[in-house]
Amino acid sequence: EKGGFDHFMLKEIFEQPKSISDCLRGRIHPEEAWIKLGGLRDYIGKLANSKRIVFVACGTSWHAGLVGEYLFEELARINVEVEYASEFRYRNPIIREGDIVIAISQSGETADTLAALELAKSKGAIILGVCNVVGSSIARVTHAGVYTHAGPEIGVASTKAFTAQVSVLSLMAIATAHQKGTITEDTFRRLLWELQEMPKKVEMILQKADEIKDISKLFTFASNFIFLGRGLNFPVALEGALKLKEISYIHAEGYPAAEMKHGPIALIDEDMPVVFIATRDSSYEKVVSNIQEVKARKGRVIAIVSAGETEVQKMVDFTIEIPNTHEMLQPLLSVIPLQLLSYYIAVLRGRNVDQPRNLAKSVTVE
Ligand code: M6R
Repeated sequence: EKGGFDHFMLKEIFEQPKSISDCLRGRIHPEEAWIKLGGLRDYIGKLANSKRIVFVACGTSWHAGLVGEYLFEELARINVEVEYASEFRYRNPIIREGDIVIAISQSGETADTLAALELAKSKGAIILGVCNVVGSSIARVTHAGVYTHAGPEIGVASTKAFTAQVSVLSLMAIATAHQKGTITEDTFRRLLWELQEMPKKVEMILQKADEIKDISKLFTFASNFIFLGRGLNFPVALEGALKLKEISYIHAEGYPAAEMKHGPIALIDEDMPVVFIATRDSSYEKVVSNIQEVKARKGRVIAIVSAGETEVQKMVDFTIEIPNTHEMLQPLLSVIPLQLLSYYIAVLRGRNVDQPRNLAKSVTVE
């Protein structure tokens, strides 16, 4: 049932080219330049007219929501807030007419996310869902939604569900932006093409699994880790840290790279490995200077870089190259090496990666 893999988590990481293409199937057509989200037929117009979108979610799904925030703001120019479902539900949230609340949940059963959604509904919001499990409680309570079609996810650590959620949020943001006219026809087509190419590019990263395994051997006994990224790669840094914590029990924190100076830099020394996501995008130069600051304090650095990159390569201890894509879609690629890195470190530490201690696959009590 693990399809020849040692763990469900590894199987699910390797399934991502397929799960992403299943998620996109029938929904985009780059040649004919269309995007179709059956489940949201009547709602893309409402999204385009909305003044505010609120994402509610927990854990990895909340990280997907943060990616969604950048996507909707940048492409569709809509004000977005991303809330932990557990906080949203207990603080008398302000919902105005035309606000749209979107729950993101792999299982569709997370108690806090469901309760947040019901609260938003009772206050008159349009509620939408991005769920993986068909017919789940969240899928049933929402006005409409989009399934991620990632297939069953067994490993407690979410991997393919995350990339499917980000794929769906990209589709939703692109469709909304297209409808609203906030992106050019050129950008629209380019994004569709890049999405279409995604499974192939993910495959290229998976082929580097052995390289990543070798790097992980040198970090097996670290007791702390910091993950840093900017822009769309900030939520990826958070996700990388969460993955490592959950399955290896190594203390890890994710930060926007620029926040480092406001505290975390005090932690940097030769015993503090730092993972940078330093792809060639609009914040690249800034990230490079953040890397210099860490190296000046003897931090050991692993950097996720764009193919063909040489500058960062010279500065850091290890680099993992990933293919180039449109900046807005970068998280779909940059998260993959981080999933593999956590997996291999956890296995080397002898952890039960599929069922880490104290964790349940879905948290159905608050
Ligand atoms: O099923 P959901 O997406 O609602 O679950 C949310 C979180 O419990 C979940 O993402 C959790 O953080 C994972 N273990 C992360 O790997």
